[in-house]
Order: sequence, then C-alpha cells, then structure tokens
Amino acid sequence: MASQKQSLPSFASLLSVLSIVFYCAGFLRVELELNEQKKRIIDLENNWENKAPDVPNRDKLTTNTHGKSFLASAENLVYTVDILSGFAYRETILKINKLLSELKPQLCQSNGHSCLPGPPGPPGPKGDKGSQGRRRNKGDQGIIGSPGMNGRQGITGPVGPKGDAGLKGQKGDMGPAGMPGAKGEPGESISAPAVAVSPKTLTVNEGGSASFQCSVSGNPKPAIKWIKTNRRSSGSVVSGGKLLLKNVRGSYSGTYNCSAVNILGEAQALVQLIVNVYPRVSLHPGPHHAIEGSNYTFPSCNVTGYPAPAVTWRKTSGPLPQGRVKYNNSALQILHISKDDSDFYFCSASNLLGRVEKKTFLVVVSPPRFIVKPSAKVFPGVGSTLTLDCKATGDPQPVISWKKQDGQLPAGRSRQLINGTLVIRDITMKDRGIYKCIAPYAKVFKTEAVTYIEFEKGNSFL
Ligand SMILES: *[C@@H]1O[C@H](CO)[C@@H](O)[C@H](O)[C@H]1NC(C)=O
Ligand SMILES: *[C@@H]1O[C@H](CO)[C@@H](O)[C@H](O)[C@H]1NC(C)=O
Ligand SMILES: *[C@@H]1O[C@H](CO)[C@@H](O)[C@H](O)[C@H]1NC(C)=O
Ligand SMILES: *[C@@H]1O[C@H](CO)[C@@H](O)[C@H](O)[C@H]1NC(C)=O
Ligand SMILES: *[C@@H]1O[C@H](CO)[C@@H](O)[C@H](O)[C@H]1NC(C)=O
Repeated sequence: MASQKQSLPSFASLLSVLSIVFYCAGFLRVELELNEQKKRIIDLENNWENKAPDVPNRDKLTTNTHGKSFLASAENLVYTVDILSGFAYRETILKINKLLSELKPQLCQSNGHSCLPGPPGPPGPKGDKGSQGRRRNKGDQGIIGSPGMNGRQGITGPVGPKGDAGLKGQKGDMGPAGMPGAKGEPGESISAPAVAVSPKTLTVNEGGSASFQCSVSGNPKPAIKWIKTNRRSSGSVVSGGKLLLKNVRGSYSGTYNCSAVNILGEAQALVQLIVNVYPRVSLHPGPHHAIEGSNYTFPSCNVTGYPAPAVTWRKTSGPLPQGRVKYNNSALQILHISKDDSDFYFCSASNLLGRVEKKTFLVVVSPPRFIVKPSAKVFPGVGSTLTLDCKATGDPQPVISWKKQDGQLPAGRSRQLINGTLVIRDITMKDRGIYKCIAPYAKVFKTEAVTYIEFEKGNSFL
C-alpha cells in the first residue's frame, strides 16, 4: 500500500513519521529514568552492605542485586525492598512500572507496529542435584541385535583323507628295440620222466589235512597225476604236483600213486597215508533180559577207530564178576547169571586220540514156577465137563492164559476161572488135542505146562 502512494506523500505517511519521532522521544525518556533508578539502587546496596551485616540471605540478596536480572523479576525487587524497609524505593519502582504499562500499549500497538521480544537472558545458576529416582522392574528383553563382524580366520585344519586314484593315463609309444641278447646255452636233451615223492609216509589225525609233493623231471615236461591205488581218489586237490587232502577221514587212509607221463615213457611213485581216527562206540542201550542161571552174551559193542581202540567193560556197581566173564573185543558173556547181575554195563573204547563209553542195561529175570500143573494126559468122557487146574507163582505174579495148539479153545463151552483153572463142558471128540497153560514173564519169556486131551478107544464109539 505504501508503494502505491509513493509519488503522492499523503497525510498517512506524515502521521507515521510523527509517530516514530514521538516513540523515540518516549523511549529516550524511559532509558534516562531507568539509568537514574539503577544508580539509586547501587547507592542503596552500598549503603545496606555497610549498615546491615547480620541480615539473613545476604548471599542470595547480593546475587540477586547484581543487576542483570533485576528488572526481569519484579517480585525479587519487592522482596529486596521489604527487607530493607525502603518504602520510598518501592514507590519509585511502582511509578516506573505504571509508566511502562501506560507506555507499552501506545508504543507497541500504534499503527500496526508490534514490539519485538528482547534477546533471551543468560541461563540461571545450576540447580541442586535431584534425589535418585525409584528403581523399576527390569524391562522385557530387547530384540536380537544385528550380527557382529566376522571373526579372525581360524588355524589350518588337519590334513583331509587321501582322494581316489586318478584315471589311468594312456599307453605311451613303443620304445626303440633293445640290443639283441647274448647267445643262449645249448638246449637240454630230451629225457624220460623221473618221479620223486615226499613224504613217503604221513600220519595225520582225523579232521586234519595231508599234503604230498610229487617232483617230476623229464623233457618234454611230463603230465602229473595222483591216484588212490585201491579206491577212487576223494577230496584231493592237485596243483603243480602237490596232493592236498583236507578234513581227512579214516577212509582216506591208504596208498596214493603219483605218475608222470611224456612221449618217452612213464614213471610212478607211491606214498602212504595213515589217518588216526577217534574211537567210536555203538551199543544197544537195552534193557536186555537174561534168565537167571543161564549164560548170557551181551549184544556186540561195535567199536571203530585207528589205531584199533582197546575195548573194556565194567558195570556201575564195580568190576565184572570174576571167573564168570568171558569177553573179546566185541562181545561180553556172563556165565550162570544171577539176580545180582542186573545192572548197567559200560563198553568203552580208547586209543591215542581219546576214549568213549556207551552203556547198556541188563535185567536178570527168574521164570515163574508152576505150583499146580494139569496132568500130562486126560481122558474125559464125551459130554462130560472137564476141569484143568493150573497155578504159577512169580514176581510179579504171572497171569495164566490157556491156548489150544493148532486151533481155538472150544467156543461157548470153555471158560477160564480167575484162579487159572480152565473148564470145558459138553466135551466132544473134536476137543482132542494139546492144551497149554502159559505163564509169561518179562514180556519176552514164558513158561508153559502142557496137557493132552485124549479119548479112550471104547469111548470113541459112544
Ligand atoms: C600207478 O598209476 C599208474 C598210472 O595210472 C599205473 O600205471 C600204475 O600201475 C600205478 N601203480 C600202482 C602201484 O598202482
Ligand atoms: C554192531 O555190528 C553188528 C555187525 O556188524 C551189527 O549187526 C549190529 O547191529 C551193530 N550194533 C550196533 C549197536 O550198531
Ligand atoms: C554156560 O557155559 C558153560 C561154559 O561155557 C557151560 O559149561 C554151561 O553148560 C553153559 N550153561 C548153559 C545153561 O548153557
Ligand atoms: C568174540 O566173542 C563172540 C561171542 O562169544 C564170538 O562169537 C566171536 O567169534 C569172538 N570173536 C573173537 C575175535 O574172538
Ligand atoms: C479154582 O476155582 C474153582 C472154583 O472156584 C475150584 O473148583 C478149583 O479147585 C480151583 N482150583 C485151584 C487149583 O485152586
């Protein structure tokens, strides 16, 4: 607006100039007045310092009256004046304040001008340290920070495992031909084969292995062959003239024949193999039954082994009964045997490889005795009833049974009583024959009593 009316100085611009002049004059007057007041205060201070040395808060007062912040706080000024009881001074201050408050609206608000704020005062003195705050609970754990920088490089590790072998290279070029060799010795003359064997005899234990070497000379080189002389060779391995027999058995024993053949002829040599065989015993375990008073021969104790095992017999309860025993390698015989001979009998076989034993059980039994025997011959009448008594004792008590030789007991007309008696009623001529009362014992033996039913000549026509 001011730029528009530049060419024509108006009444408004004249008024502005006048205002500035008035303002400057006002300000000058205030400054002078303030200076005067300041001077008076300093005089008062000096006066008060000399006159009132025991006034409290003297330090505070002194600090406060050092000028710079004097007008900033009117209350401090009032406080100072109160202590000094300088009422005249207070009046003066009030007058200044009144003057300032009257002037301020005029100076600052006229014609749109505003008062600029003054520069900030210097910072106040440092306050006392506050009391320590209350300690609170520990806070939540913070988030994981960003990873740190890489550490220094570690020391060199141990040497790693060896790698796989590389691929085989290609074959190189053929080298130059070598120098021709020296002249050879004159060749051998041709000869018939000759054979040497080692060892000539060999003894091995059953289960072991045997080997023979057959060395052959001759030109042309002869073919070598091993044969078992008396039987087919079994389990033999031939390599370069060597005969190897593994896990040998008794049947390997014998003679082996190494032969060599070429165009000029044939040669051979024999070796002997001996196999020691563990003794083995086979014996029926029984029980065997022998009749008291008889001569009893045990079933043979079959023994194998090489060298031929020695066979001995014994019984559990001690040595064999002296004087009543005959035995050779396989069989044991006990003469006139008695009840006391019932026992376990042991057949043992031993040779240099070891000893084995087998046992068998012998039971000596006594046959039942008949205490009542039927008559050797009876002549019953036709149509009559015939009674045939038979009774035997033994231990255990034998159970009597009747049989008719070459036929059946008369069906329906015969019965056996509990005491062993046989009863036949309504005898007919067909009942003629031999009847046996049998008393068994030890299941395998039996004793018999025999009777013959016959008819008298005269009766046969009845
Ligand atoms: C050994 O073997 C050869 C060739 O098979 C044979 O001619 C020879 O008679 C044998 N000798 C004996 C002792 O068996
Ligand atoms: C013993 O040998 C004989 C004759 O070779 C044979 O009859 C018998 O059964 C054998 N006994 C056993 C227990 O092998
Ligand atoms: C038993 O043998 C002996 C002698 O060998 C002989 O004298 C006797 O008669 C025999 N006894 C029987 C019951 O065979
Ligand atoms: C062994 O004894 C038995 C029975 O007495 C007889 O048959 C056999 O011939 C005897 N053997 C020898 C070798 O004496
Ligand atoms: C067997 O019993 C019958 C009938 O009880 C009798 O008649 C008979 O005499 C008895 N026999 C013997 C040998 O005791």
